Amino acid sequence: MKPAFVFGTRPEIIKLAPVIRAFEERDVKPILIHTGQHYDYEMSKIFLEELELDAIDYHLEVGSGTQAEQTGIAMIKIEKVLMKERPDVTLVQGDTNTVLAGALASVKLKIPVAHVEAGLRSFDRTMPEEINRILADHASEVLFAPTNEAKKNLENEGIREGVYVVGNTIVDAVLQNAEIAERKSKILEKLGLKPKKYIVVTVHRAENTDSKENLEKLVEILEALPIKAIYPMHPRTKNRLKEFGLWERIKKIGNLIITPPLGYLDFLKLQKNARIVMTDSGGVQEESIILNVPCLTLRYNTERPETIKAGGNILVGLEKDRALHYVNKLLNDEDFYKKMASAENPFGDGKAGERIVRILLELYKNGKLRVRSSRFI
Ligand code: UD1
Ligand code: UDP
Repeated sequence: MKPAFVFGTRPEIIKLAPVIRAFEERDVKPILIHTGQHYDYEMSKIFLEELELDAIDYHLEVGSGTQAEQTGIAMIKIEKVLMKERPDVTLVQGDTNTVLAGALASVKLKIPVAHVEAGLRSFDRTMPEEINRILADHASEVLFAPTNEAKKNLENEGIREGVYVVGNTIVDAVLQNAEIAERKSKILEKLGLKPKKYIVVTVHRAENTDSKENLEKLVEILEALPIKAIYPMHPRTKNRLKEFGLWERIKKIGNLIITPPLGYLDFLKLQKNARIVMTDSGGVQEESIILNVPCLTLRYNTERPETIKAGGNILVGLEKDRALHYVNKLLNDEDFYKKMASAENPFGDGKAGERIVRILLELYKNGKLRVRSSRFI
């Protein structure tokens, strides 16, 4: 069997690495196609190195652009590779423009698409990610839903065939790397941090960074934090802060350490030892519940409602009073902190990668890995 992986951003590399590894353990060599949606060393190559994915077959160098530019150029370049390689299946993960481009290019060549992390919905169609997820799911033949909730979302859109609940590969990634991170990373010493005495912040989503008003609200929250906070900053956010004239202001916050984006081992160690995580990231919301760190999500919705239900995550939006209320409660109310920190991980047992590979090999063996004319026959 010849699988192809299409990926291009930081979270896709992290979440697909366990699947690629599971194929390799069965002596199946996948074709690795990196679109180049993320291209800075610390947004891409550092993860390829840390996760030992240095044998990329195609670097497409798509880069940044408007939504249509980025997706369109990626589609054109992916199509060329898929036409040449004719893999048996194309795997994509998540909800980025790379995913949409990979899924569309593939299904139109009648190469079946397997979507890892299928069925997530924020129910906010103004987010580029929501459009990408919906379209990728509907273009996919095999849908790997991380939870039953995700499976239900697919059912509600009429997708019942080809859906497998396998857990989320982020658990595999955390389990495979947390201990290595604990041993190897010197990030706490480097930043002068004591375990559980600081907050980790990451914010990069378009809805928070593309408007000056929202970015200003974020800065106000950070200015009011009562303990030290570390913010490994996504380049998108840094660019916008500069554009909106907020960069000098955020740099002046005494309690805040801004760093470039961190590698996976450093970031995992930083997260694991934090008292609180504040984020708008999907992957970081998932990891914080896996690592038993309470998460305050700086958004008004989440496509990871399982974390809220489990009690490990609270939506605070960009509401300063609400955010500060929960920060203070987590710092001062030990029972509340312990309750959030002990919320049960809803994303599975860390064997999602293996399950995905097993299912795909089985479908292939039985001649079922193909684009069918209808889902309903
Ligand atoms: C993308 C995904 C988002 C995901 C995030 C992971 C889409 C629509 N969004 O957002 O869902 O959460 O990746 O991090 O696909 N930039 C650099 N260097 C890089 C990459 C980006 O400077 O290596 C800057 C560029 O100015 C670029 C901006 O960041 O215009 C945004 O990058 P882009 O890939 O368009 O989207 P992300 O915000 O990274
Ligand atoms: N991450 C990292 N370094 C950082 C910030 C995040 O390694 O400086 C990792 C994090 O552990 C998680 C993933 O990147 O696994 C999340 O990616 P991101 O927040 O960019 O995207 P999202 O999950 O929101 O799509």
